[in-house]
Amino acid sequence: MRFVVTAGPTREPLDPVRFISNRSSGKMGYAIAEAAIADGHDVTLISGPVCLRAPSHAKVVTITTASELHDALLECTNECDVLVMCAAVADYKPVSVASRKMAKPREKFTIEFEPATDVLSAISKSPRDFFVVGFAAETHDIEARAQQKLRAKNCDMIVANDVSRNEIGIGADENEVVIIARDGDLRRIARAEKKIIARELVKIICTEAKKVLTKKSR
Ligand code: CTP
Repeated sequence: MRFVVTAGPTREPLDPVRFISNRSSGKMGYAIAEAAIADGHDVTLISGPVCLRAPSHAKVVTITTASELHDALLECTNECDVLVMCAAVADYKPVSVASRKMAKPREKFTIEFEPATDVLSAISKSPRDFFVVGFAAETHDIEARAQQKLRAKNCDMIVANDVSRNEIGIGADENEVVIIARDGDLRRIARAEKKIIARELVKIICTEAKKVLTKKSR
C-alpha cells in the first residue's frame, strides 16, 4: 500500500526569528513511517521541523507551517491508499507576521492570533478514495474526545494518546494508545516504545484499510 505519514510539529512565525510551536518530537510519526517501510509499503513522510534522521527508503517532504502542510498533502495524497495524520499541527497563527525582528517590549503586550486551517478536516472531508487515520492528543476524557474528533474530522480511524504525562505521548520515547474505528470498535495498545506501538498500529491500519478500500472499489 502507499502510505502518507505526517509527523512533528508545525511552526507559525511571528517575525524572522520567532515562532509559535509545540513540544512534538516527531518520534511517533517517524516510527510509523519506519514500520510501514519495514512492512513493505511505499511511504511518503511529510515532516515538520524535528531532530530525527529521515528513514531510508521514504520520500521525505519537509514543511514548516500548517498551510505548507496542507499544500504538501494536497499534492501527496493524489496517489495514496492510507493517510496517517500524526503531525501536531498549529491550531492558531499570528494574524500578522512582522517582516523585521520585533523590538523587545518594555511593557505587557498582546499578540493577536487567528485559527489555522484544520488540515485533517479539510483533506478528509474532500472527496477521497484513501483511508484516513487521525490522531487525538488529549489530557482528559480521552476516549470521548477522540470519538468526537473522529466524527467531526471524518476519519476512518483515530489513535488517541494521553499527552498529560511526561513518560508517554508528546516528546517521550514511549506511548500508550487507544485506537477507535468508525464503527466504534475500540482497541488498546499498552505502554511500550513508540517503535513497538508503530508496528502494531501499521498492522491494524492495513487490516482495516484493506476492508474499506475493497468495499469502495467494488
Ligand atoms: N490537526 C490538523 N490541523 C490542525 C489541528 C489538528 O490537521 N490545525 C489534526 C492532527 O494532525 C490530528 C487531529 O487533527 O490528527 C487531532 O488533533 P488534536 O491536536 O488532537 O485536536 P485539535 O483538532 O487540534 O483540537 P483541540 O486542540 O481542541 O483538542
